[in-house]
Amino acid sequence: MREFAKSHKLDHVCYDIRGPVMDEANMMEAAGEKILKLNIGNPATFGFNAPDDVMQVMSSSLPLAQGYSDSHGIIAAREAIIRYDEYRGIKGVTPADIYTGNGVSELITMSMQGLLDSGDEVLVPSPDYPLWTASVTLAGGTAVHYVCDESADWNPDIEDIKKKITPNTKAIVIINPNNPTGAVYEKDLLMQIVEVARENGLIIFSDEIYDRLLMDDAVHTSIASLAGDDVFCITFSGLSKSHMSAGFRIGWMSLSGNKKAARGYIEGLNMLSSMRLCSNVPAQHMVATALDPASFGKKDPLLLPGGRIYDQREFIYNALNSIDGISAVKPKAAFYIFPKMDIKKFGITNDEQFVLDFLREKKILLVHGGGFHWGAPDHFRIVYLPDMDTLSASMQGLKEFLADYKQN
Ligand SMILES: Cc1ncc(COP(=O)(O)O)c(C=O)c1O
Repeated sequence: MREFAKSHKLDHVCYDIRGPVMDEANMMEAAGEKILKLNIGNPATFGFNAPDDVMQVMSSSLPLAQGYSDSHGIIAAREAIIRYDEYRGIKGVTPADIYTGNGVSELITMSMQGLLDSGDEVLVPSPDYPLWTASVTLAGGTAVHYVCDESADWNPDIEDIKKKITPNTKAIVIINPNNPTGAVYEKDLLMQIVEVARENGLIIFSDEIYDRLLMDDAVHTSIASLAGDDVFCITFSGLSKSHMSAGFRIGWMSLSGNKKAARGYIEGLNMLSSMRLCSNVPAQHMVATALDPASFGKKDPLLLPGGRIYDQREFIYNALNSIDGISAVKPKAAFYIFPKMDIKKFGITNDEQFVLDFLREKKILLVHGGGFHWGAPDHFRIVYLPDMDTLSASMQGLKEFLADYKQN
């Protein structure tokens, strides 16, 4: 029988959030086990609903949304995105500079496919949201990871960035606010990254999908607002997280700065955008309502004391730090935390094995730090969206498990 293998393009592509550990959890579930899942940032599955007004506008727009739209998206959505960009200080964005996508995910892949040739390098954070590394690799480029510094609230290490630039480096990716750390980058540091991009002729890709999920006094700065006219930036955002509507698949990217220098690349983006015809049209109709200027700068009550995300963040942060051998930096945004394990104490040399052992014994699913291209086997990620009972049971489980865990 003729057999069919995956293409060689996928040989080095890795997306472990939905990888082998999750496969094992699915098998356990199929066998009737109940698994507590702290592994995927999918708000709807934890009882978070999209706001009524955006749901309403999308369903009432269905009759208008039966055909393909312009490949960039409907004009009302793009104008709303431009207003939002202007509010964030990103200047000079025109409707032609906006591309709506089936989630930010599609645009990440598209933006890498349009840019990279074999041998091109892209600086990507470690830890990262792994789709970035996967997309660089799939596009034939090489992801070179720069370190984010846990002791500096997980801000990128600028010296490490500088050290990793070579003549082949074409771009730098930042994820701000960050998944998996929950960090919000300081303005001063963003200015230094712009300077590095300017000096080395790099494109800046900034994934800002969590920019409206800030807690405490965190202030988010879009790096494109600092970049001026001479550095080309692509800023990504969408409604999956801010409007708890991941299943509707709507995200966008905005091009700003030195578009002249990127003329050829933009031609490629237009080609790729046209090849997939357009993004999901009903979801595009949500954008203008979701980005109503009256909502700019207003915090969702879920992110304030007494709100579910805020309270769950407080709980998980305190619970983790009270476990012997675990420490965690407090996240300032999104709904992830990236705790550190004392690997000497637990004899851990393989973090994927650790999450697998924990899954098998306690039926609780986490993602190992290596899944985010973190270099040492000493971290894991928790999504703290599940309700307080689930989080509480999970933390109790982790405490019990680690009380006598020794991997080696
Ligand atoms: C940093 C980051 N970027 C992009 C995405 C993808 O979002 P979308 O649903 O818009 O494809 C995610 C999803 O978890 C994410 O965490």
